[in-house]
Amino acid sequence: MTQWLHDKRLLLGVCGGIAAYKSVEVLRLLVKGGAHVRVIMTENARWFVGPGTFQALSGVPVCTSVFNADDAAIRHIDWAREADLAVVAPATANCLGKLAGGIADDALSTFMLAVTAPVLLCPSMNTHMYQHPAVQSNLARLRGFGHTILEPDAGQLACGTLGPGRLPAPEVILEAVLGLLAPQDLAGRRLLVTAGPTREPIDPVRFISNPSSGKMGFAIARAARHRGAAVTLVSGPVDLPDPPGITVRRVTTAAEMTDAVLSAFADADIVVKTAAVSDYRPRERAPHKIKKTSDTLGLTLEKTTDILKTLGERKRGQILVGFAAETQELAAHAAAKLEAKNLDMIVGNLVGSGDAGFGCDTNRVTLFLRDGSHEALPLMDKYDLAHAILDRLGRLAEQT
Ligand SMILES: Cc1cc2nc3c(=O)[nH]c(=O)nc-3n(C[C@H](O)[C@H](O)[C@H](O)COP(=O)(O)O)c2cc1C
Repeated sequence: MTQWLHDKRLLLGVCGGIAAYKSVEVLRLLVKGGAHVRVIMTENARWFVGPGTFQALSGVPVCTSVFNADDAAIRHIDWAREADLAVVAPATANCLGKLAGGIADDALSTFMLAVTAPVLLCPSMNTHMYQHPAVQSNLARLRGFGHTILEPDAGQLACGTLGPGRLPAPEVILEAVLGLLAPQDLAGRRLLVTAGPTREPIDPVRFISNPSSGKMGFAIARAARHRGAAVTLVSGPVDLPDPPGITVRRVTTAAEMTDAVLSAFADADIVVKTAAVSDYRPRERAPHKIKKTSDTLGLTLEKTTDILKTLGERKRGQILVGFAAETQELAAHAAAKLEAKNLDMIVGNLVGSGDAGFGCDTNRVTLFLRDGSHEALPLMDKYDLAHAILDRLGRLAEQT
């Protein structure tokens, strides 16, 4: 289940474009997130994907005509009234023209005139079609109606053309959906988030690091973006793609992370440091691969810059949040870190349980606040936990 998607009523419109197969995956992601999704297909969309696929995934019949023998004649009005959001993916040039012109000659275009909920349109077509002044002026008109247009990706299209027109990945469409459903309570706020591990080189082929996956930091960055914040994410080496709409700076070592964070700090209102930065690095980096010649090998380590402490010393009204992954005595370590580093909140988790902490999709944390209070949160998906943390941060920001 995904916060803001859970129990929401969504309408997915599918048009007759080559990318219609991708809307099957969009539907799967929306349903996985806990949404109730109804699908309306154009007649031409049936040429690309069968309604049975959408019906099986959504669990409800697919509407393809307002003149079906059952109650479909009124269904589009009911569905429009009940929808929390309408998404059209892919939206063909033809469909965009009809929506811009107020034409209602099939189930989807009729529904789209009746809906009052937010609308997300995902155009996808041949580059020349997309760049045609008629399509561009229709898109401008649709923006003027208050609809959100998800720009198509550029690249090699199925028709062989190179340029804009490709439907963005289903995960990117999901991000846009979450951005339209989440409250915009962080609009105007600037968040700086750090994520992932750092790598401290021993020689050209070896390094000291830790198992941080970056999932918690990326979840916080995404959740803040969905709530309207301008987000900068500084990440160590992780296997996660750049989330859309976020300024991402990729770094490798603790020194690089220090530079990137300190240069972005002055422009941030809220700083959330989830990165697992190495506390020590090898004093020397061997210029060539160290050979296996002796039975033992000693490494001299030196301390890296304590970024959180430095930020705590430099902060001028920013809200500063740290994470503490501990293997024992969480409360004592968290309270000490909160005090020593001049933080406003610390998110503490005991690592090693298997369902929380490094690499997991879920986490179980306790929030420790400056006033001495603490709040233990249940095991949660990291995205939902990110929102729970942002709820508290939003309240702290209102007090400052
Ligand atoms: C193989 C094939 C692929 C097509 N792909 C697209 C497309 O990606 N985008 C688009 O706007 N039209 C595309 N078309 C043209 C539309 O199918 C056509 O304009 C149709 O009238 C759209 O109907 P609808 O908007 O009611 O679904 C394609 C047509 C064919 C035959």
